[in-house]
Amino acid sequence: MSDRRVSKIAPSIAILGLAGLMTAALTGCKSSSPAPSASPKQAASARPSVAKKTPIVGSAAKGKELFQENCTTCHGMQGQGVPHLGADLETNKFIAHSSDAQVVTFIEEGRSANDPLNTMHVAMPPKGGDPAVTTQDLYDIVAFLRQIQKTGNHK
Ligand code: HEC
Repeated sequence: MSDRRVSKIAPSIAILGLAGLMTAALTGCKSSSPAPSASPKQAASARPSVAKKTPIVGSAAKGKELFQENCTTCHGMQGQGVPHLGADLETNKFIAHSSDAQVVTFIEEGRSANDPLNTMHVAMPPKGGDPAVTTQDLYDIVAFLRQIQKTGNHK
């Protein structure tokens, strides 16, 4: 009888030992859990410093108004171009293949009639001829020009 009692106690001690190990493992997991939950907060707080580096964002709605004020005489109401006055800007390869900053720089500088790059042999005046046009205005205009592109995305 006494032998049987010992053999019943031995496995129950082993089970207690296992339970103790499992408890230790669980507490170990709990103590490390705050670290992963902190990382999304860190990522969120890192966003503003990234935003500082992003380039000027143009508003196509403002750009449309500015385009109608300054550019339609030579480029037409829809940017379709006017013969002997201004290039078609709807299917324009230069716009399609250039960054916003490159198109802004072009409009800022314009292109004289005798410039070897000039295809129409008519001048494109700097800022369309209005010195009051700001850099932000030009990014707005470029956002509008992106909207009227008919040839799709040329990247
Ligand atoms: C006095 C007429 C005139 C005005 C005003 C004018 N442009 Fe132009 N623009 C031209 C001409 C002419 C060309 C074509 C130049 C060439 O053939 O290289 C041109 C070309 C362009 C091009 C394409 C350049 C290329 O290499 O294909 C862009 C973009 C452009 N104009 C934007 C504008 C914007 C935006 C405005 C208003 C802020 C404006 N232009 C106002 C005459 C004008």
